[in-house]
This record gives sequence, structure tokens and C-alpha cells, in this order.
Amino acid sequence: NAEVAEVTGEDGVRRRDFIEIAAVSAAGVGALATLVPLVTQMSPSADVLAESTTELDISALEVGQSIKAVFRKQPVFVRRLTSNEIEAANAVDVDSLRDPQTLAERTLPGHEELLVVMGVCTHLGCVPLGAAEGENKGEFGGYFCPCHGSHYDTAARIRKGPAPTNLAVPEYSISDTTLVIG
Ligand code: FES
Repeated sequence: NAEVAEVTGEDGVRRRDFIEIAAVSAAGVGALATLVPLVTQMSPSADVLAESTTELDISALEVGQSIKAVFRKQPVFVRRLTSNEIEAANAVDVDSLRDPQTLAERTLPGHEELLVVMGVCTHLGCVPLGAAEGENKGEFGGYFCPCHGSHYDTAARIRKGPAPTNLAVPEYSISDTTLVIG
């Protein structure tokens, strides 16, 4: 009897162990299954980032208004320029610029009024302030970087301060009322 009880006991323990291990494993797999998509979302691979696009509905974007969006984890500024801003951008002697580019070269044909630029200062990467915030736009009416005082004009071209180049223009296209960046 003692022998049978012992055997039964061992079996019982073994079974419990197995059940516990199975339960822990299932929980582990479940947790992993939950974590993997999260991690993938938090740290997309370079390939995923390179392929990702940002779509914005610009139908409600009125003259003088801006949208701040995110493109490949970085800020992007979209602004429908006013006629004064376009005029100011076109009045500049392009050859005198540090990074010579016309407004037309920085926008799409037929959409010169829509400025799309990365919100990343080309000096050391701070996020400039712009018309979107209604804050200090700097001397040139475009964007101002508070970190070390770079001033960008209404076409987001560098005009004063340490930044070496204009705010970058990402690849983008416009179809109807949708702006596709990337
Ligand atoms: Fe913008 Fe230095 S990071 S001026």
C-alpha cells in the first residue's frame, strides 16, 4: 500500500509539475506574442521605416494654416502659405542664400503654396518653432530654432544662424485632398 501510495504520489507530483510548466510556458508564449508586435511598433526596422508613408487630409487646411505631423518618427510641417509669404519667398535673391533654392524648387508644380518640410533643424536637430504655434517666427517670417538661433524664411530656407542648410523637403505627392509623404 505504501508503495502504491508512493507511486501515486510521484505521479501526482509529476502531473502537477507538467501542468504548471505547461501553464507557465503558455503564459510565456502569450506574453511574447503580445510583446513582439509592441516591440515591432516601438522599434520598427530600418526597412519598415524606409517604406512607411504618412497620409494627411489637407482639404481643411486654409491659407495661413499649418499642420504638424509625424513622418518616420520625425516632425514634419505642412503649411499653406499666404500670398505675402509666397511674395516674401520669391523676392529673395536666391544666389545670396547659404543653400540656394527657389520656393518653386522646394514645392510641387502647381502647388507652390503648399510647403512641406521636416521639422528638424539642420544644425543639431532641434524642432524649430513656426507659424503653426503662433510663436516667435524669427526675423524672416518662417521658422525659428530656439536652440541656437537659426532663422528660416517663409520657404523654410536658412537665412541666419548656425544651421548649414534649409529645412529638408521630404518626398511627397498630392492627390486630390490627400498629401502623401514618403
Ligand atoms: Fe537649431 Fe542649433 S539645433 S540652431
